[in-house]
Amino acid sequence: MKNKFNQLRDEFLEQLARVKTNEHLKELELKFLSRRGRLSELMGGLKDLNVDLKKEAGELANNVKKELQEKFNALSKSLNNLVAKNNEIDVTLPGANLAQGHLNPITLVQNELEDIFSSLGFMILDGPELESDYYNFTALNIPPNHPARDMQDTFYVDYKNKDGHYDLLMRTQTSPVQIRAMQKYGAPLKALIPGRCFRNEATDARHEHTFYQVEGLLIGENINFANLKSFLEIVGQRLFGPNTKLRMRPKFFPFVEPGNNGEYTCFLCQGSGCRVCKQTGWLEIVGAGLIHPEVLRAGGIDPEIYSGLAFGFGLNRLAMLKYNINDIRLFNSGDLKFLEQF
Ligand code: DAH
Repeated sequence: MKNKFNQLRDEFLEQLARVKTNEHLKELELKFLSRRGRLSELMGGLKDLNVDLKKEAGELANNVKKELQEKFNALSKSLNNLVAKNNEIDVTLPGANLAQGHLNPITLVQNELEDIFSSLGFMILDGPELESDYYNFTALNIPPNHPARDMQDTFYVDYKNKDGHYDLLMRTQTSPVQIRAMQKYGAPLKALIPGRCFRNEATDARHEHTFYQVEGLLIGENINFANLKSFLEIVGQRLFGPNTKLRMRPKFFPFVEPGNNGEYTCFLCQGSGCRVCKQTGWLEIVGAGLIHPEVLRAGGIDPEIYSGLAFGFGLNRLAMLKYNINDIRLFNSGDLKFLEQF
């Protein structure tokens, strides 16, 4: 009997030494010290002993009980103190410093363009990144099998429409939102559409599978090439300063006619030639043109009544020029050493 009490005592103390939380301590109390716990159970057996043995074992039992209860109380007290301490707030401690984030340079140039164009009365629109083949190509006067599709390979979703064609793709340009905007708002219309685009590229310092463009369109009665020219001039001067000159060179884009590239005098050397403009004095910045009648029709606008101009900027290129960034892959890298500079 005496052995059993000593054994119980050792077992209890061993388990008590491992207790770290109040919950754990309560479990131990229930198991050993409660009315139905193991100590009570053992003491219940005392009544069956003869008088001498009962006296001796009873004394030991009482000592063990006292000892266990004391040890238990002591640990309970220190655990409670610990909890109270943890809940105390020291109002004199300095606050935790929150690291301040930075805007991605793409966001910076996008904000700048949005400011310029909203001051010219343009609304800022958004469109889906997952597009249909129709909006991304066909409606923009790039029918199936048109060679212009070759330059804009992209990522297709593994889904076929009822004709058995892969119909959903990651948009290669922001131009499909031209059609969506015409269908939704009709003419006249002035809209700027920034957004993320995707292409199946072999990536290098100048090519990236994920990049940003800004699209713009202005539709009204009698919008003509002279309007396009003066409009692009204003945009260049707002972007790069009042002395900026515009040069327009013909370029084919299926959704405009005529189409051209707008180039501006280099903001760094003012046209005399430097590293940034590759000694030409000019920077190729914007694709633009007068909206093709087929495209207006696809947008539900009558080309006999309305005409319009459209243009597209590559935001990555603008940011690279402006902030002297030499690798396009840095924009999506998530590299803080890069981002913290802006
Ligand atoms: N979507 C063209 C591209 O990705 C850029 C562009 C060119 C947009 C001419 C236009 C435009 O709206 O008129 O290369």
